[in-house]
Amino acid sequence: MCGIVGATGSSRVVDVLLSGMARLEYRGYDSAGVALVVGTPGEEGAPELTSLWRARRAEGTKSVADLAASIEVPEGIVHAGIGHVRWATHGRPDEHNAHPHLDCTGRVAVVHNGIIENFATLAAHLVDEGHRLASETDTEVVAHLLESRIATGESLTGALRAVIALIEGTFAIAAVHADDPDVIVAARRVSPLIVGRSDGSGLVASDIPAILGETREVFSLDDDHVAEVRPGSITVTGLDGRTVGPRPMTVEWDLEEAEKGGYDDFMSKEIREQPTAVADTLRGRLSGDGRVLLDEERLTISELREVDKVFIVACGSSYHAGLVAKYAIEHWARLPVEIDIASEFRYRDPVLDSQTLVVGVSQSGETVDTIQAMRGAAEQGAKTLVISNVVDSSMARESDAVLYTRAGPELCVAATKTHLAQVTALQVLALHLAQVRGSLYPEESAQLIEDLRSMPARVEEVISRAPAVSEVAGAVAGAKDFLFLGRHVGYPVALEGALKLKEISYLRAEGYPAGELKHGPIALIEEGVVVVAIATLRSDLLPKMLGNIEEVKSRGATVVVVATDGDGASVVRADHVLWVPPVPHSLFSPIVDVVPLQLLAYELARLRGNDVDRPRNLAKTVTVE
Ligand code: M6R
Repeated sequence: MCGIVGATGSSRVVDVLLSGMARLEYRGYDSAGVALVVGTPGEEGAPELTSLWRARRAEGTKSVADLAASIEVPEGIVHAGIGHVRWATHGRPDEHNAHPHLDCTGRVAVVHNGIIENFATLAAHLVDEGHRLASETDTEVVAHLLESRIATGESLTGALRAVIALIEGTFAIAAVHADDPDVIVAARRVSPLIVGRSDGSGLVASDIPAILGETREVFSLDDDHVAEVRPGSITVTGLDGRTVGPRPMTVEWDLEEAEKGGYDDFMSKEIREQPTAVADTLRGRLSGDGRVLLDEERLTISELREVDKVFIVACGSSYHAGLVAKYAIEHWARLPVEIDIASEFRYRDPVLDSQTLVVGVSQSGETVDTIQAMRGAAEQGAKTLVISNVVDSSMARESDAVLYTRAGPELCVAATKTHLAQVTALQVLALHLAQVRGSLYPEESAQLIEDLRSMPARVEEVISRAPAVSEVAGAVAGAKDFLFLGRHVGYPVALEGALKLKEISYLRAEGYPAGELKHGPIALIEEGVVVVAIATLRSDLLPKMLGNIEEVKSRGATVVVVATDGDGASVVRADHVLWVPPVPHSLFSPIVDVVPLQLLAYELARLRGNDVDRPRNLAKTVTVE
């Protein structure tokens, strides 16, 4: 939520900011703004005069484009600048609440992502001291607090160290000061922030794609560390002022991967990248002697063998991937698995100990609820493992073990390729645990990994059937209510299908385990309701699903069935069919079954004229509670 970018020492500061902000727009698009430190030569050999220049726009989903098209950068040398795209928390999404925020002197500018929980108290003190606050945001207090510290003679860096010690809550902050024109200072607590440098320039950003065109020399910041970014140099200090080394990050992505590459939008590009995402996630997972491998394992085999219970914590689509894993881990590794929405896990006092493995699933590795759930688990002595798409993400750095989904950058707010990659990675994890525990013979788990390798071709096959999905979308385009039903691993598929549809089409869509139908949701069924039934089930469950289809059909629902090629019996009562190819193991079926539902959501959203990449009210990475 909210995206930050900063640049210093480049001859193209404004371009770097605007292109970085365009790449960060998936994090928030309520408004966009930049502040630049501009120098103009003093008269007759007098020193350069520096000042702050600011421009902001609140134009909904067009704010960065509008800002880029309309600003006229003042004459002079642009030494440094900071930019921001906003997902509003405190204060309406209008121009006067847009970042950057300034202090009373107009010489300090600040951008922020996160929530300053004690901002009301801090603001009251500032007003008592005579500061004039111009916005309703929590962020603005930071500019005025910096102003107060700078007035006592502190440097911008020293001032930021002092200010973050006063702040309660989560933040990623970047600030510039017209008196120190080449410097950007930055700090974080929980909210993501990285710094980078290249050829005499310095960079700050919320994530890697924002500055991928400028550098691959990128460093992560730890909580409560302050970075002073100058052209070509980065110095990081702790709260005590002592220097700590910036931690290099591995950048695996190319700029090309973070661009649309000829597609209309990121969502269709990312849906079509799914076969590669699944294949890449499986790459190198089997050692020569048939062992299933993770990426980073700071746990010994005997520690893993001691695990007697698994918790999975995640949010949104990552939670749905985690649900699939519950079935896989229980089936193959014979370990009890509990799964929780991360924000619930954190506050419900779960019973954990050193024999518990807590698995966090997160595309970004930065979702605040999941980070905090994992931290809480580690504090209670549990072992932690993360499935992350971002290499060296906060969660990856803090966990005992990591399995990366190698899906490449995902910029559409709605998760598609990372979800499929997560399901794949979690199957790998289930097989790894099964091997460690000896619940499968090594050749069985190795064979299952080999079987997984056939999945990318099957996903490709489903994607090639997109025209058939468009036809179904056209046929149900007038409907307002959708109910997705699944059983066993079809249940998480139903949840994910419903989430995709509501996220981007804004249609009412619920996912349910089909067995629950008669316990309530059937009351909603009437003429005009569309029921999407996932019927690619094991033979013992299929007749039950066919019974559910009869029940909704006889009450007037329009029925769309996801069925396996050649399974004529499952589609007898269907109004529309989304065919998918068979899979080698029923636990793998979510990897193909979810794809037509992504395409259906995409088509329905496009028919409604929605911006599929930037759905209203949402942001890609949720970094505030
Ligand atoms: O980065 P994470 O995987 O932790 O994000 C979790 C959810 O916020 C995310 O999956 C969200 O539900 C997506 N918008 C789903 O399309």
